[in-house]
Amino acid sequence: MMLLYRVGRACHVLVLVLCLSAAEDFDWTTNNHDSFYYGTFPTGFSWGVGSSAYQTEGAWDKDGKGLSIWDVFTHKKGKIFLNNTGDSSCDGYYKVKEDVSLMKELNLNHYRFSISWPRIIPTGIRCKGVKFYNALIDELLENNITPIVTMYHWDLPQVLQEKYGGWQNISMVNYFNDFANLCFEQFGDRVKHWITFNNPWSVAVEGYETGEHAPGLKLMGTGAYRAAHHIIKAHSKVWHTYDSQWRSKQRGMVGISLSGDWGEPVDITNQKDIEAAERYVQFYIGWFATPIFHGDYPQVMKDFIGRKSAQQGLGTSRLPTFSSQEKSYIKGTCDFLGVGHFTTRYITQKNFPSTRSNTYFTDRDIAELVDPKWPDPGSEWLYSVPWGFRRLLNFIKTQYGNPMIFITENGVSEKVMCTELCDDWRIQYYKDYINEMLKAIRDGVNVKGYTAWSLLDKFEWDEGYSERFGLYYVDFKNKNKPRYPKASVQFYKRIIGSNGFPHQREVENWRRKATETCSSSNQLLAADPLTSHMEMVTEIVVPTVCTLCILMSAIFLMFLLRKRN
Ligand code: NOJ
Repeated sequence: MMLLYRVGRACHVLVLVLCLSAAEDFDWTTNNHDSFYYGTFPTGFSWGVGSSAYQTEGAWDKDGKGLSIWDVFTHKKGKIFLNNTGDSSCDGYYKVKEDVSLMKELNLNHYRFSISWPRIIPTGIRCKGVKFYNALIDELLENNITPIVTMYHWDLPQVLQEKYGGWQNISMVNYFNDFANLCFEQFGDRVKHWITFNNPWSVAVEGYETGEHAPGLKLMGTGAYRAAHHIIKAHSKVWHTYDSQWRSKQRGMVGISLSGDWGEPVDITNQKDIEAAERYVQFYIGWFATPIFHGDYPQVMKDFIGRKSAQQGLGTSRLPTFSSQEKSYIKGTCDFLGVGHFTTRYITQKNFPSTRSNTYFTDRDIAELVDPKWPDPGSEWLYSVPWGFRRLLNFIKTQYGNPMIFITENGVSEKVMCTELCDDWRIQYYKDYINEMLKAIRDGVNVKGYTAWSLLDKFEWDEGYSERFGLYYVDFKNKNKPRYPKASVQFYKRIIGSNGFPHQREVENWRRKATETCSSSNQLLAADPLTSHMEMVTEIVVPTVCTLCILMSAIFLMFLLRKRN
C-alpha cells in the first residue's frame, strides 16, 4: 500500500515537473522569416468568412428593431466619413439565401456573424429579430455551414447607453447576461460556438477613450479601463451562465474574440525595446487575455498605470482592481480564444512624463513605427506584415497555455471607392498570412479554424464605406446592392479546396486563373451603371411619363366635353 502511495506521489511530482517545464517563455530574440511553406493544414481544419450585424444587415429600423449606439452615432453629422450610415448597408437582412449561396460557392465550413442586441431586445421586449436569426442559422445548417456567433459586435442598445452610460456602468454585466441567456435559449440548440465580445479593445479605447467610435465618449485615462473592466466581468458571467445552465444540454463552447496587432522590438537585441514591445502587446491582447486565462491584469499594466496615477497625485490607480473572489471567478472562462489580427508595428521605448492628461496611449511609454517598405494597400493603419501573425500566435501559445484558437478576423481592405475586382494584393495578403498561420501550427500553436474578413464589402465604422474588406464587392450605389466576386474569392476557394498550399506550381496557377476570371466580373460591374440607368428608366421615367400622358388626356377630354356643352 505504502509502495503504491509512493509511486503515485512520484508520478504526481513527475507530471508537475513535466507541466512546469512545458510552460515556455516567448522568445523575443529570434524572429525567423522562413520562406514560404508548401503543405496542408490538419484534417478537419475549419475555413470560414465573417461579418457583423451593424456592418452588413441594414434594416436599421425595420420590424421593431430598437436603436443601437451606432444608429445614433452615425446619424450625428461629422462623425463618419461622408456622413455614411449603416441604415441599409449591404441589406443583408433581406439577402440571407443569396449570401449563404455565396458561402456555399466558396465551400466554407463556417460563417461568423453577430447578433444585433437591439434587434432581438429593442426595449426589453422580444420581436421579429429572433425570426431573422433563426432563418439565417437554419439556412447555414442546411448548407452544412457551421454558425459561429458573436453576441456583441459593438451595437449596444441605445437605451442602455442613455440610461446607464453603457459600458461605464457595472449594470451592463447583468443586462448582457440576460441577452446572452436569451441567445442560448433561442439559438443554442443549433449554435455550438459562441463568442461573447468582438474586439473589446476597440469598444473600450475607441468608444470610451478617443471617442472615434460609438458612443463617442472621450474619457481620457479612465474611460477605456473602466469599460474593459465591465466587459471582462460580463464575459466571465456569461461563460458561467452557459457552463452551469446550458452546457450539459447544448454541448457548445463559449469564447471571446480579441484583436491583437503584433508589436516587434525595433532592435531584438536591445532589452529596452523588448520590454517596450512586450508592453505594447500586454496593453493590447494581454489586457483581456491575462485576466481570462490567469485571473488578473498583466503585471506591467498594473505597474505602469499605478505609477502614473500616483505621479498624478491620485490615491488609487486608474486601472480598476479585481477582488480575489472575482479573480478566481474570471480565471479560466474561455473554451476557445478567438483572434482577430490584421497588422504589426515596430516598437521602441518612449517616456511620456506623467501629466493630468494621461491617457491609455501615454500610459504605455512606447513609440510605434512602421517600415516604409511594408505594403499598405488599404486602410491607413493596415500594413501587410505576415510574419507578425506567426509571432503573435506563438506569443499566445506561450502566455496562455496553448489554448484552442479560432482566427476570427484576418484580411485587408482597398482604398476609397476602388472598383477593381482583380485584387491581386489581397491574394498576396491572404496567401502570406495564411501561410504564416500554417507555420505557427507547425510550431505547435493550436489553431482550429480561420475566418477571412470579410464576406462582403460593408460599413467600415468611422470610415463609412470608404474601405472595402470584402471578398465580394458590393455596389452600394445600386439599390439592389448586387455582389460581385473579386479575384480573391477564387484564390481563397482553392486554398479551402486543397486545405492549404499543395505545391508551388499549383498555387501560382490558382493565382493566374483567379486574375483571369476577375476580368469578366469587372466587365459585369462596368455594365452596372448602365443596368441601374435602365432600371431607373423602367422604374421611374416610364411610369412618370405614362401618368402624365393619362392626366393630360383626361384634361384634354374634359376640355372637349365642356366645349361640346
Ligand atoms: C475589427 C472589427 O472587429 C471589424 O468590425 C472591422 O471591420 C475590422 N477590424 C477592420 O477594421
